[in-house]
Amino acid sequence: MCGIVGYTGREQAAPILLDGLSRLEYRGYDSAGLAVRDGGAPAEVVKAVGKLHHLADKTDQGRALRGQCGIGHTRWATHGDPTVINAHPHVSGNIAAPGGGAAESDVVGVHNGIIENYAELKEKLLRHGYVFYSDTDTEAVVKLVDYYYKKYGIGPVDAITRTMVRVRGSYALALMFRDYPGEIFAARKDSPLIIGTAEDASYLASDVPAILKYTRSVYYIDNLQVARVSPGHAVFYDLNGDETAVPLTEITWDAAAAEKDGFEHFMLKEIHEQPAAVRDTLNSLVKDGRADLGAAGLTEDIIRSLNGIVIAACGSAWHVGMAAQYVIEDLAGIPVRVELASEFRYRSMPMNENTLVIVISQSGETADSLAALRVAKERGALTLAVVNVVGSTIAREADHVLYTLAGPEIAVATTKAYSAQLAAMDVLAAEMARARGMITGEHYARLLEELAALPDKIRRVLEDKERLQWFSSKISNAHDIFFIGRGLDYAVSLEGSLKMKEISYIHSEAYAAGELKHGTISLIEQGTLVIGVLTQSRLFEKTVSNMMECKSRGASLMGITVNGNFAVEDSVNFTVYVPKTDEHFTPSLAVVPLQLLGYYTSVSRGLDVDKPRNLAKSVTVE
Ligand code: G6P
Repeated sequence: MCGIVGYTGREQAAPILLDGLSRLEYRGYDSAGLAVRDGGAPAEVVKAVGKLHHLADKTDQGRALRGQCGIGHTRWATHGDPTVINAHPHVSGNIAAPGGGAAESDVVGVHNGIIENYAELKEKLLRHGYVFYSDTDTEAVVKLVDYYYKKYGIGPVDAITRTMVRVRGSYALALMFRDYPGEIFAARKDSPLIIGTAEDASYLASDVPAILKYTRSVYYIDNLQVARVSPGHAVFYDLNGDETAVPLTEITWDAAAAEKDGFEHFMLKEIHEQPAAVRDTLNSLVKDGRADLGAAGLTEDIIRSLNGIVIAACGSAWHVGMAAQYVIEDLAGIPVRVELASEFRYRSMPMNENTLVIVISQSGETADSLAALRVAKERGALTLAVVNVVGSTIAREADHVLYTLAGPEIAVATTKAYSAQLAAMDVLAAEMARARGMITGEHYARLLEELAALPDKIRRVLEDKERLQWFSSKISNAHDIFFIGRGLDYAVSLEGSLKMKEISYIHSEAYAAGELKHGTISLIEQGTLVIGVLTQSRLFEKTVSNMMECKSRGASLMGITVNGNFAVEDSVNFTVYVPKTDEHFTPSLAVVPLQLLGYYTSVSRGLDVDKPRNLAKSVTVE
């Protein structure tokens, strides 16, 4: 999604802003822009469509834009096409040269999110003589701030709070006012924004990696707060314009964690970080052979009181939910429903205080997942967030939080966050089973031991990557790929299929193996690749039969199974083995070859692995 950066200090702002934007590139964008001001001079705006290097070229790598205070933006189009005129920053003035130029405006700003009532606001502003040059909702907000600023002759903070009361939707805003040189004003609602301070400088960003190189001291500006930012300082205000305290937080991530570290792509690096991500997550949740969910406040009493669980999430996090449902039901005997957050928020699912709604999210900012969490709370359910980004909105709003310790994930296609989420959900399932008396102490200990052994087993799967690289080069011209499995193997298939399609642009579908013959099998042609996930012994023969049905219609077959199931080689063309573990936990191993398959296929096709087209890392709009 869109990215915001800001800088005010003693250095030239434009190169710092471009650097910050480059670190947010992974979020996905289609145009970019900067506004920089030199002392009391008006801000100069430059914008460009396409990759960030176009903007860098246009500004001579930032050198052509003089000034020590500025804001920057990468835009992922929602309202209005991805054109230069629609790119941010936007200005309050009535004329803006299409490619930017000196903005003779009192207010200039960038925005992430969606303003739902922008049409109505635009109409009002048109009546007051404002002329609009873009199709964006952002232009309406910047002009509305300007309108209140002038109408009431009030300062920037009050003009912004009045605007916040008037707009509906979500936003992170960074604004500069012509009369306030060296200052940036920021506000947010349901869209992330942080402010970092150093000795003589301050930084704004929609995500931590943009400023990690400069400072680790950050303020997480809260929902419906305004910040007034000057070099080295930030003051916060509530909606009434009263000053309010926001704690300064230290980022513990290593800056190197957001670098490629010798790997060709972030995705490959993050695939290799999975043993550590899973180990760190497990270590934080398991102490002395017992799951310790105390930090999350999930007491045994709470766990025993539950009569149902609903898991709501998007994308790969939803796939984690799909896997977790089998494990929780099987071990703990609690009925589980798994819902896409975008669907859950608009249905009237009955629930009460004995329903636990678990929202899984890497970013903790996904708009639909956040909305699902709020709906669950309104309906009286107890809520638990399983989140990677500390301090994110979902983490702050949920009743209870379990953090995954995957570290910063940069590639759009998630890998290590997915694996860390799976591990966290497995610990939760085991603990629920124990607390509800569903398993013996011995069984519980065995489960935790198996979990503790996963990081090393994932590392062993990674050692086999050359074979997958070879196989990927063979399939890189495929038109369709089907991923099939039953039970937990179906859940892994969903993730394998998503990894393949999102970065290689090859059409793929995941199907519950037994359902294939009810329609989808008609798509199987000579040479169509069908990948069967075969890790569940009880379901092994059944899925193999379904693969055979495909083979007899021309399909070529790949199988992923556990060590020892060598007979599978009699039936399939290419087999990958993963180490044995408790069958509840095989998704943590089976997903790794599927991630590598998607990765290497994308590389063979020469695609932009880390930043696939049309996608965003964190989807903060509905
Ligand atoms: C986007 C990402 C996916 C991710 C999904 C949910 O679509 O591209 O990789 O699974 O959002 O994100 P979350 O941050 O809530 O886990």
